[in-house]
Amino acid sequence: MPKLIVTTRDGKEHEVEAQTGLTVMENIRDNGFDELLALCGGCCSCATCHVHVDPEFAAKLPPMGEDENDLLDSSMDRDETSRLSCQIPYTAELDGLRVRIAEED
Ligand code: FES
Repeated sequence: MPKLIVTTRDGKEHEVEAQTGLTVMENIRDNGFDELLALCGGCCSCATCHVHVDPEFAAKLPPMGEDENDLLDSSMDRDETSRLSCQIPYTAELDGLRVRIAEED
């Protein structure tokens, strides 16, 4: 099974098994990380699925859409590694992906 490495807000790293065909957000949520609220369920309208993605994987991510960009602008914790995890389909290419759950706004 491909892996996903999630750093929670307490700074701890957790390696979990991830499924292709789901988004990164769904994989985080389905592995029981409650601090990723994902309130809109993946409709790109809440920004509570904000994560920081390891820059090593930046080239493998889909380009950021306008809605995603606008929503991230509302976050105090935005930086160049910010993405909405519901907008990233988890593919085999992303095996070993490292993400850190962003601070709550
Ligand atoms: S789950 Fe709401 S924007 Fe990603």
